[in-house]
Amino acid sequence: TEVIIVKDEQEAGELYGRCVADLITKNPQAVLGLATGSSPLAAYKALAKIVHDEDIDVSHVRDFALDEYLGLPITHPQSYHSTIERTVVEPLGLDPALVHVPGDVINGAPLSDGRIIQEAGPAYDRAIEEAGGIDVQILGIGTDGHVGFNEPGSSLASGTRVKTLAEQTRIDNARFFGDDVNAVPTHCITQGIGTILKARHLVLLAFGEGKADAIAHTVEGGVSAFCPASALQLHPHATVIVDEAAASKLK
Ligand code: F6R
Repeated sequence: TEVIIVKDEQEAGELYGRCVADLITKNPQAVLGLATGSSPLAAYKALAKIVHDEDIDVSHVRDFALDEYLGLPITHPQSYHSTIERTVVEPLGLDPALVHVPGDVINGAPLSDGRIIQEAGPAYDRAIEEAGGIDVQILGIGTDGHVGFNEPGSSLASGTRVKTLAEQTRIDNARFFGDDVNAVPTHCITQGIGTILKARHLVLLAFGEGKADAIAHTVEGGVSAFCPASALQLHPHATVIVDEAAASKLK
């Protein structure tokens, strides 16, 4: 795993932005893996700036989101579908028809029957494969080492699947739902660790002291389902971009 220590989120964002802008210039139909959360925000801003400054055509870029809540209408402001639209699709000027979010099939169905729920994950993985695979997957990391909604204990071979949300994650995310834990969905759908490992390049971003333990385990600990992000060690092209604080527990 390649570790790059940067001054701040802006510098990390510029590294991501340059890498993805060059990719799109070479391959206008590039496939991007997108994440929500605070960590990638500066990276999306930096990419949007390069795309506009250099007039890069992104109209054919294809996108797959990492995860989504279940039981929220697609248009709910806290759905990852809406969040990705606000933070990535609109600022970059991507074609919304080429953006896939794993919960769309379930959240968009009038009544989510069991069959739809069971088939949504494998169908999402097939869609990624049919697109030729993800070129660059951006990732954040939880303080407990989670990536996507793959909490500690998730199989490192997992594909996209529906899961119940960990109680701690619901408590942590209540801030986006008026501090009301009961308003936080109970289920989610997430790319699996196995899905994530199939992307050709992984770029994990982490900032702040709160992420230092998780980063140390991810980069220097043993590969273990107890820290799902440690699976990055199994990937031939994984880049971890961190600030000094998040790097502070690396040896
Ligand atoms: C986002 C996601 C989460 C976050 C992680 C870190 O799609 O799946 O795993 O990446 O919780 O969140 P932030 O970046 O807000 O610290």
